Amino acid sequence: MTMVESEVRVGSSITPAALRLCDLTKSYPGPPAVQAIAGIDLEVAEGEMFGLLGPNGAGKSTTVGVCTTRIRPTSGSAEVLGLDVLREPARVKRRLGVVTQANTLDRSLTLFENLYYHCRYFGIRSRPARARADELLERFRLAERAGSFPDQISGGMAQRLQVARAVAHRPRLLFLDEPTAGLDPQSRLALWELVSELRSDGLTVVLTTHYMEEADQLCDRVAIVDHGEVLVCDTPEALRARHGAGEVIELELDRPLSTAVHAALAGISGVRSVEARDGGVRVMADDRDGLLARAVEAAGPDGVRDASAAGSTLEAVFINLTGRDLRE
Ligand SMILES: Nc1ncnc2c1ncn2[C@@H]1O[C@H](COP(=O)(O)OP(=O)(O)OP(=O)(O)O)[C@@H](O)[C@H]1O
Ligand SMILES: [Mg+2]
Repeated sequence: MTMVESEVRVGSSITPAALRLCDLTKSYPGPPAVQAIAGIDLEVAEGEMFGLLGPNGAGKSTTVGVCTTRIRPTSGSAEVLGLDVLREPARVKRRLGVVTQANTLDRSLTLFENLYYHCRYFGIRSRPARARADELLERFRLAERAGSFPDQISGGMAQRLQVARAVAHRPRLLFLDEPTAGLDPQSRLALWELVSELRSDGLTVVLTTHYMEEADQLCDRVAIVDHGEVLVCDTPEALRARHGAGEVIELELDRPLSTAVHAALAGISGVRSVEARDGGVRVMADDRDGLLARAVEAAGPDGVRDASAAGSTLEAVFINLTGRDLRE
Protein backbone atom coordinates (compact mmCIF):
# COMPACT_ATOMS: atom_id res chain seq x y z
CA MET A 1 0.00 0.00 0.00
CA THR A 2 1.41 3.35 -0.96
CA MET A 3 0.03 6.41 0.66
CA VAL A 4 1.00 9.96 -0.13
CA GLU A 5 1.03 11.83 3.14
CA SER A 6 0.36 15.53 3.30
CA GLU A 7 3.01 17.50 5.02
CA VAL A 8 2.90 20.34 7.46
CA ARG A 9 5.84 22.49 8.35
CA VAL A 10 6.16 22.80 12.09
CA GLY A 11 9.11 25.01 12.87
CA SER A 12 11.87 23.82 10.59
CA SER A 13 10.94 20.12 10.59
CA ILE A 14 8.40 18.47 8.32
CA THR A 15 5.84 16.08 9.79
CA PRO A 16 2.86 14.46 8.07
CA ALA A 17 -0.42 16.36 8.39
CA ALA A 18 -3.06 14.65 10.48
CA LEU A 19 -5.72 16.94 9.09
CA ARG A 20 -5.80 19.37 6.20
CA LEU A 21 -8.79 21.49 5.23
CA CYS A 22 -8.60 23.49 2.01
CA ASP A 23 -11.13 26.23 1.33
CA LEU A 24 -13.82 24.09 2.89
CA THR A 25 -17.43 25.28 2.71
CA LYS A 26 -20.75 23.84 3.76
CA SER A 27 -24.14 25.38 3.13
CA TYR A 28 -27.37 23.93 4.45
CA PRO A 29 -30.13 24.58 1.89
CA GLY A 30 -32.76 25.57 4.46
CA PRO A 31 -34.99 27.46 4.49
CA PRO A 32 -33.45 29.45 5.92
CA ALA A 33 -30.24 28.70 4.01
CA VAL A 34 -27.21 28.72 6.32
CA GLN A 35 -23.55 28.87 5.40
CA ALA A 36 -22.19 26.84 8.30
CA ILE A 37 -18.61 26.75 6.95
CA ALA A 38 -17.53 29.74 4.91
CA GLY A 39 -14.12 28.78 3.54
CA ILE A 40 -11.86 27.22 6.15
CA ASP A 41 -8.18 26.46 5.60
CA LEU A 42 -6.53 24.56 8.39
CA GLU A 43 -3.67 22.16 9.02
CA VAL A 44 -3.16 20.05 12.10
CA ALA A 45 0.17 18.31 12.56
CA GLU A 46 0.45 14.76 13.85
CA GLY A 47 0.72 14.63 17.61
CA GLU A 48 -0.88 18.04 18.07
CA MET A 49 -3.71 18.84 20.43
CA PHE A 50 -5.70 21.29 18.36
CA GLY A 51 -8.70 23.34 19.47
CA LEU A 52 -11.58 24.83 17.50
CA LEU A 53 -12.87 27.54 19.80
CA GLY A 54 -16.02 29.45 18.97
CA PRO A 55 -19.50 30.44 20.09
CA ASN A 56 -22.73 28.53 19.44
CA GLY A 57 -23.42 28.16 15.75
CA ALA A 58 -19.85 29.00 14.69
CA GLY A 59 -19.66 25.86 12.56
CA LYS A 60 -17.53 23.67 14.85
CA SER A 61 -19.72 20.55 14.72
CA THR A 62 -20.26 20.90 10.98
CA THR A 63 -16.48 21.00 10.50
CA VAL A 64 -16.06 17.89 12.64
CA GLY A 65 -18.92 16.27 10.71
CA VAL A 66 -17.13 16.83 7.40
CA CYS A 67 -13.79 15.58 8.75
CA THR A 68 -15.41 12.42 10.09
CA THR A 69 -17.33 11.74 6.82
CA ARG A 70 -20.75 12.31 8.39
CA ILE A 71 -21.43 15.54 6.51
CA ARG A 72 -20.81 16.15 2.80
CA PRO A 73 -19.05 19.47 2.20
CA THR A 74 -20.40 21.89 -0.41
CA SER A 75 -16.93 22.67 -1.79
CA GLY A 76 -13.27 22.46 -0.91
CA SER A 77 -11.48 19.43 0.48
CA ALA A 78 -10.74 17.68 3.73
CA GLU A 79 -7.88 15.21 4.12
CA VAL A 80 -7.41 12.97 7.13
CA LEU A 81 -3.91 11.49 7.42
CA GLY A 82 -3.44 12.07 3.71
CA LEU A 83 -6.77 10.50 2.71
CA ASP A 84 -9.54 12.50 1.07
CA VAL A 85 -12.76 12.18 3.10
CA LEU A 86 -14.98 12.09 0.00
CA ARG A 87 -12.90 9.65 -2.02
CA GLU A 88 -11.95 7.22 0.76
CA PRO A 89 -14.52 7.51 3.54
CA ALA A 90 -14.13 3.91 4.74
CA ARG A 91 -10.36 4.15 5.16
CA VAL A 92 -10.71 7.55 6.80
CA LYS A 93 -13.22 6.18 9.29
CA ARG A 94 -10.92 3.37 10.31
CA ARG A 95 -8.14 5.81 11.13
CA LEU A 96 -10.13 8.23 13.24
CA GLY A 97 -12.14 8.19 16.42
CA VAL A 98 -14.94 10.59 17.22
CA VAL A 99 -16.96 11.68 20.21
CA THR A 100 -19.92 13.60 18.85
CA GLN A 101 -21.69 16.37 20.71
CA ALA A 102 -24.72 14.16 21.42
CA ASN A 103 -24.42 10.98 23.51
CA THR A 104 -24.37 8.07 21.06
CA LEU A 105 -23.85 5.21 23.51
CA ASP A 106 -26.00 2.15 22.91
CA ARG A 107 -28.43 2.20 25.82
CA SER A 108 -29.36 -1.46 25.41
CA LEU A 109 -25.75 -2.57 25.95
CA THR A 110 -23.66 -2.58 29.12
CA LEU A 111 -20.56 -0.42 29.38
CA PHE A 112 -18.40 -3.44 28.62
CA GLU A 113 -20.55 -4.37 25.62
CA ASN A 114 -20.47 -0.84 24.24
CA LEU A 115 -16.68 -1.18 24.01
CA TYR A 116 -16.61 -4.84 23.02
CA TYR A 117 -19.01 -4.49 20.07
CA HIS A 118 -17.27 -1.36 18.88
CA CYS A 119 -14.04 -3.37 18.71
CA ARG A 120 -15.80 -6.21 16.90
CA TYR A 121 -17.30 -3.74 14.42
CA PHE A 122 -13.78 -2.57 13.66
CA GLY A 123 -12.69 -6.11 12.89
CA ILE A 124 -11.00 -7.02 16.16
CA ARG A 125 -11.46 -10.73 16.99
CA SER A 126 -13.43 -11.80 20.01
CA ARG A 127 -10.71 -12.51 22.53
CA PRO A 128 -8.59 -9.40 21.86
CA ALA A 129 -11.80 -7.33 21.75
CA ARG A 130 -12.64 -8.52 25.28
CA ALA A 131 -9.14 -7.74 26.45
CA ARG A 132 -9.25 -4.29 24.86
CA ALA A 133 -12.65 -3.52 26.44
CA ASP A 134 -11.37 -4.58 29.87
CA GLU A 135 -8.20 -2.55 29.47
CA LEU A 136 -10.17 0.57 28.51
CA LEU A 137 -12.67 0.16 31.37
CA GLU A 138 -9.69 0.05 33.71
CA ARG A 139 -7.90 2.97 32.14
CA PHE A 140 -10.99 5.19 32.04
CA ARG A 141 -11.90 4.28 35.62
CA LEU A 142 -15.11 2.50 34.68
CA ALA A 143 -14.18 -1.07 35.59
CA GLU A 144 -16.48 -1.19 38.60
CA ARG A 145 -19.44 -0.28 36.43
CA ALA A 146 -18.65 -2.64 33.53
CA GLY A 147 -22.03 -4.36 33.85
CA SER A 148 -24.09 -1.17 34.19
CA PHE A 149 -26.08 0.39 31.37
CA PRO A 150 -25.46 3.93 30.06
CA ASP A 151 -28.66 5.23 31.71
CA GLN A 152 -27.36 4.11 35.11
CA ILE A 153 -24.12 6.11 35.12
CA SER A 154 -23.28 9.80 35.63
CA GLY A 155 -22.74 12.26 32.80
CA GLY A 156 -19.02 12.31 33.52
CA MET A 157 -18.80 8.52 33.30
CA ALA A 158 -20.84 8.44 30.11
CA GLN A 159 -18.48 10.93 28.55
CA ARG A 160 -15.43 8.89 29.64
CA LEU A 161 -17.04 5.83 28.06
CA GLN A 162 -17.61 7.72 24.81
CA VAL A 163 -13.94 8.68 24.72
CA ALA A 164 -12.88 5.12 25.58
CA ARG A 165 -15.04 3.79 22.75
CA ALA A 166 -13.69 6.40 20.33
CA VAL A 167 -10.10 5.22 20.89
CA ALA A 168 -10.89 1.50 21.19
CA HIS A 169 -9.81 0.68 17.62
CA ARG A 170 -6.58 2.65 18.13
CA PRO A 171 -7.17 5.55 15.74
CA ARG A 172 -4.37 8.00 15.02
CA LEU A 173 -6.66 11.02 15.08
CA LEU A 174 -9.36 11.71 17.63
CA PHE A 175 -12.17 14.27 17.30
CA LEU A 176 -13.87 15.45 20.47
CA ASP A 177 -16.88 17.69 19.85
CA GLU A 178 -17.55 19.70 23.02
CA PRO A 179 -16.30 16.87 25.22
CA THR A 180 -17.00 18.61 28.51
CA ALA A 181 -20.22 20.51 27.75
CA GLY A 182 -22.67 20.12 30.60
CA LEU A 183 -20.20 18.40 32.94
CA ASP A 184 -19.58 19.60 36.49
CA PRO A 185 -16.10 21.10 37.11
CA GLN A 186 -14.75 17.94 38.73
CA SER A 187 -15.81 15.65 35.87
CA ARG A 188 -14.42 18.19 33.44
CA LEU A 189 -11.00 18.10 35.10
CA ALA A 190 -11.05 14.29 35.16
CA LEU A 191 -11.76 14.22 31.43
CA TRP A 192 -9.04 16.79 30.68
CA GLU A 193 -6.58 14.55 32.47
CA LEU A 194 -7.56 11.49 30.45
CA VAL A 195 -7.41 13.40 27.19
CA SER A 196 -3.96 14.72 28.09
CA GLU A 197 -2.82 11.15 28.73
CA LEU A 198 -4.07 10.01 25.32
CA ARG A 199 -2.23 12.84 23.78
CA SER A 200 1.03 11.90 25.46
CA ASP A 201 0.59 8.47 23.84
CA GLY A 202 1.07 10.26 20.52
CA LEU A 203 -2.56 10.55 19.44
CA THR A 204 -3.53 13.67 17.50
CA VAL A 205 -6.56 15.32 19.07
CA VAL A 206 -8.90 17.90 17.54
CA LEU A 207 -11.38 19.23 20.05
CA THR A 208 -14.12 21.80 19.75
CA THR A 209 -15.16 23.90 22.67
CA HIS A 210 -16.68 27.17 23.68
CA TYR A 211 -14.82 27.07 26.99
CA MET A 212 -11.83 29.31 26.59
CA GLU A 213 -10.05 27.79 29.61
CA GLU A 214 -10.32 24.40 28.00
CA ALA A 215 -8.75 25.58 24.76
CA ASP A 216 -6.15 27.55 26.68
CA GLN A 217 -5.06 24.78 29.01
CA LEU A 218 -5.28 21.74 26.76
CA CYS A 219 -4.38 22.85 23.28
CA ASP A 220 -1.05 23.37 21.55
CA ARG A 221 -2.78 25.54 18.98
CA VAL A 222 -6.22 27.07 18.77
CA ALA A 223 -8.28 28.28 15.82
CA ILE A 224 -10.88 30.81 16.85
CA VAL A 225 -13.92 30.34 14.61
CA ASP A 226 -16.94 32.55 14.12
CA HIS A 227 -19.63 32.46 11.44
CA GLY A 228 -17.92 29.53 9.72
CA GLU A 229 -14.58 31.27 9.37
CA VAL A 230 -11.23 30.95 11.13
CA LEU A 231 -10.45 34.38 12.55
CA VAL A 232 -7.01 33.50 13.92
CA CYS A 233 -4.98 30.35 14.50
CA ASP A 234 -1.95 30.09 16.75
CA THR A 235 -0.72 28.93 20.16
CA PRO A 236 -2.82 30.26 23.05
CA GLU A 237 0.18 32.27 24.27
CA ALA A 238 0.70 33.92 20.89
CA LEU A 239 -3.02 34.70 20.55
CA ARG A 240 -3.13 36.31 23.96
CA ALA A 241 0.02 38.29 23.27
CA ARG A 242 -1.05 39.52 19.83
CA HIS A 243 -4.81 39.90 20.09
CA GLY A 244 -5.56 39.93 23.79
CA ALA A 245 -5.56 42.73 26.29
CA GLY A 246 -3.12 43.09 29.17
CA GLU A 247 -6.04 43.37 31.52
CA VAL A 248 -9.80 43.08 31.40
CA ILE A 249 -11.83 44.78 34.10
CA GLU A 250 -15.53 44.45 34.77
CA LEU A 251 -17.40 46.99 36.86
CA GLU A 252 -20.94 46.59 38.11
CA LEU A 253 -22.68 49.94 38.24
CA ASP A 254 -25.74 51.26 40.07
CA ARG A 255 -26.78 53.32 37.06
CA PRO A 256 -26.48 52.86 33.28
CA LEU A 257 -23.07 53.89 31.98
CA SER A 258 -23.10 57.66 31.44
CA THR A 259 -21.32 59.43 28.59
CA ALA A 260 -19.10 61.24 31.09
CA VAL A 261 -17.94 58.04 32.81
CA HIS A 262 -17.47 56.33 29.44
CA ALA A 263 -15.17 59.20 28.43
CA ALA A 264 -13.33 59.15 31.76
CA LEU A 265 -12.65 55.41 31.46
CA ALA A 266 -11.57 55.73 27.84
CA GLY A 267 -9.20 58.51 28.87
CA ILE A 268 -7.20 56.33 31.27
CA SER A 269 -3.79 55.70 29.74
CA GLY A 270 -3.47 52.28 28.08
CA VAL A 271 -7.22 51.67 27.84
CA ARG A 272 -8.10 50.05 24.54
CA SER A 273 -11.85 49.70 24.75
CA VAL A 274 -14.79 50.61 26.99
CA GLU A 275 -17.97 48.68 26.45
CA ALA A 276 -21.30 49.13 28.24
CA ARG A 277 -22.63 45.81 29.54
CA ASP A 278 -25.84 44.76 31.15
CA GLY A 279 -25.59 46.38 34.60
CA GLY A 280 -22.08 47.69 34.13
CA VAL A 281 -19.07 48.21 31.91
CA ARG A 282 -16.08 46.27 30.61
CA VAL A 283 -12.70 47.91 30.15
CA MET A 284 -9.82 46.33 28.24
CA ALA A 285 -6.35 47.80 28.54
CA ASP A 286 -2.75 47.09 27.53
CA ASP A 287 -1.37 47.59 30.98
CA ARG A 288 -2.62 46.38 34.31
CA ASP A 289 -0.61 48.53 36.74
CA GLY A 290 -3.06 50.46 38.90
CA LEU A 291 -5.77 50.07 36.29
CA LEU A 292 -8.43 48.65 38.61
CA ALA A 293 -8.10 51.52 41.10
CA ARG A 294 -8.14 54.16 38.35
CA ALA A 295 -11.18 52.57 36.66
CA VAL A 296 -13.10 52.40 39.94
CA GLU A 297 -12.31 56.06 40.58
CA ALA A 298 -13.28 57.15 37.06
CA ALA A 299 -16.60 55.25 37.25
CA GLY A 300 -17.44 56.69 40.69
CA PRO A 301 -20.20 59.03 39.45
CA ASP A 302 -22.21 56.03 38.13
CA GLY A 303 -21.95 54.19 41.48
CA VAL A 304 -19.52 51.23 41.44
CA ARG A 305 -21.12 48.21 43.14
CA ASP A 306 -18.45 45.65 42.32
CA ALA A 307 -15.19 45.45 40.38
CA SER A 308 -13.12 42.54 39.16
CA ALA A 309 -9.98 42.07 37.08
CA ALA A 310 -9.72 39.01 34.85
CA GLY A 311 -6.32 39.31 33.22
CA SER A 312 -6.01 38.42 29.56
CA THR A 313 -7.72 35.29 28.39
CA LEU A 314 -8.69 33.78 25.07
CA GLU A 315 -12.09 35.26 25.84
CA ALA A 316 -10.47 38.71 25.63
CA VAL A 317 -8.95 37.68 22.31
CA PHE A 318 -12.40 36.73 21.04
CA ILE A 319 -13.98 39.95 22.29
CA ASN A 320 -11.20 41.98 20.71
CA LEU A 321 -11.68 40.26 17.37
CA THR A 322 -15.47 40.24 17.23
CA GLY A 323 -16.73 42.75 19.79
CA ARG A 324 -18.80 39.95 21.31
CA ASP A 325 -18.63 37.47 24.15
CA LEU A 326 -18.16 33.76 23.45
CA ARG A 327 -21.41 33.16 25.28
CA GLU A 328 -23.53 35.93 23.79
N1 LIG B 1 -28.57 19.92 9.64
C1 LIG B 1 -28.62 21.24 9.61
N2 LIG B 1 -29.51 21.89 8.82
C2 LIG B 1 -29.55 23.22 8.76
N3 LIG B 1 -28.74 24.06 9.45
C3 LIG B 1 -27.82 23.49 10.25
C4 LIG B 1 -27.71 22.06 10.38
N4 LIG B 1 -26.72 21.79 11.26
C5 LIG B 1 -26.23 22.98 11.66
N5 LIG B 1 -26.88 24.00 11.06
C6 LIG B 1 -26.60 25.44 11.22
O1 LIG B 1 -25.26 25.67 10.83
C7 LIG B 1 -24.62 26.60 11.70
C8 LIG B 1 -23.40 25.95 12.33
O2 LIG B 1 -23.84 24.91 13.19
P1 LIG B 1 -22.82 23.98 13.99
O3 LIG B 1 -23.65 22.98 14.70
O4 LIG B 1 -21.77 23.50 13.08
O5 LIG B 1 -22.19 25.03 15.02
P2 LIG B 1 -21.37 24.77 16.36
O6 LIG B 1 -20.22 25.71 16.32
O7 LIG B 1 -21.09 23.33 16.53
O8 LIG B 1 -22.38 25.28 17.48
P3 LIG B 1 -22.66 24.72 18.98
O9 LIG B 1 -21.68 25.43 19.86
O10 LIG B 1 -24.06 25.16 19.22
O11 LIG B 1 -22.51 23.25 18.97
C9 LIG B 1 -25.67 27.03 12.70
O12 LIG B 1 -26.25 28.22 12.23
C10 LIG B 1 -26.67 25.89 12.66
O13 LIG B 1 -27.96 26.35 12.99
MG1 LIG C 1 -21.53 21.99 17.96
